[in-house]
Amino acid sequence: SFEKNTIIVIFGASGDLAKKKTFPALFGLFREGYLDPSTKIVGYARSKLTKEELHAKIEPHLKKPHGEKDDQKVKDFFNMTNYISGQYDTDEGYLQLNDEIETFEKSRNISKPHRLFYLALPPSVFLPVAQQLKKLVYATDGITRVIVEKPFGHDLQSARKLQADLAPLFKEEEIFRIDHYLGKELVKNLIPLRFGNKFLNSSWNKNSIQNIQISFKEPFGTEGRGGYFDSIGIVRDVMQNHLLQILTLLTMDRPISFNAEDIRDEKVKVLKSLAPISNDNILIGQYDKSIDGTKPSYLDDETVKPDSKCVTFAALTFHINNDRWDGVPIIMRAGKALDSGKVEIRVQYKNIPTGMFNTMPNNELVIRVQPNPAVYLKFNAKTPGLSDTTSVTDLDLTYENRYSDFWIPEAYEVLIRDALLGDHSNFVRDDELDISWKLFTPLLNYIESSEAPAPSLYPYGSRGPEGLSEYLKKNGFDYNGTETYSWPITSPN
Ligand code: BG6
Repeated sequence: SFEKNTIIVIFGASGDLAKKKTFPALFGLFREGYLDPSTKIVGYARSKLTKEELHAKIEPHLKKPHGEKDDQKVKDFFNMTNYISGQYDTDEGYLQLNDEIETFEKSRNISKPHRLFYLALPPSVFLPVAQQLKKLVYATDGITRVIVEKPFGHDLQSARKLQADLAPLFKEEEIFRIDHYLGKELVKNLIPLRFGNKFLNSSWNKNSIQNIQISFKEPFGTEGRGGYFDSIGIVRDVMQNHLLQILTLLTMDRPISFNAEDIRDEKVKVLKSLAPISNDNILIGQYDKSIDGTKPSYLDDETVKPDSKCVTFAALTFHINNDRWDGVPIIMRAGKALDSGKVEIRVQYKNIPTGMFNTMPNNELVIRVQPNPAVYLKFNAKTPGLSDTTSVTDLDLTYENRYSDFWIPEAYEVLIRDALLGDHSNFVRDDELDISWKLFTPLLNYIESSEAPAPSLYPYGSRGPEGLSEYLKKNGFDYNGTETYSWPITSPN
């Protein structure tokens, strides 16, 4: 059942994130029947816009897979969606917002208000909005939920400060720290895949697994977002949050139940077992012009510092000090302006140690988060026919082929719905966040100090810095024997 008469307020409503992700996700839920038509949505931001102007900004980003049928839905959705222009740090706008909310709730005869606030805001105004929200629009006799967006701090110290500032305003159960990777279908599938399959579960440890790689590749550079990115870098942008979340779900022990706190307890436990990241075992890079000269270097972006040492590619290796994972290197690599765009997890099994099959290529379980979600297992089989050789083949679960009739929601759709239902399983808990910053802050301090080597330049559109293959090899990943194999992007139907 879905909550009726909920108020959803989006702060930062005229910004990029709201326009491209938040509103489209709300529309997607509405279109598919997962947002009750009795809901009221209010956008709030400083920009002086009319409601219609806001709608016009949002409209091009809404998905309409059912054609004309969806046009009516768009109209209905916009009828539910109002806009208030107000300042972030003075009372006036919030009083108007509160008026709007109370009038709505009264008109619906609501005894217990349910208000969801989405803070799609830059860090500079985050706290004043949280404070004003608490002061003037908080549901004292109902449910208030607040979705907050990264960055949750810049390092351990600032993250703790932010947490300390927020803690007196909202209870932990009222806060939903969004990491949109947790809403991706294949990331959500990690727990069922691992713990719901005996064969995977039994081999998911140091006895069978040699190496794990978590890779994030984007085929474009900062392109206009340089101003944001320059003080952030790839490590903060996607590794400390998105990829670490994947690592955690991939390596934690089985939670005692599906309950959000039980899941997050296990995540925290494995995070605490991670060894410090070794500064001597990293590979960092920054993209240069493409080889043909048509694509710009990072420093060509006019919004970045002219001599910026900002890291746009990094490869790091983690070790987990526990019984399950002792000695298994887990490589995390991420880069902008690379040769392709994809996010995948590659679990490489050990070789058969001795005897007749000891030269066979390693099994690999690949979980492709995007694009084209899939789970496939590379394994060895006899080459068919009168042959006594073997070859590498695969068990292939490509979602597009197997689940073509399913609606797979966007990450933001999944997570906003979870927040509406009060489910914290796929949101980041305060202690989880604290540990992640504890882990990454020394590395970030090092990378950003004068002690660290300058990032190696790599051409826009390449695999990354030159030393990458060597780095992977050094950290336990084995290319051996897989040259003749290629996994079809889509299988023939
Ligand atoms: C965001 C980062 O959190 O994630 C972006 O700030 C990155 O730099 C994006 O492009 C990737 O998300 P997705 O869903 O496109 O893989």
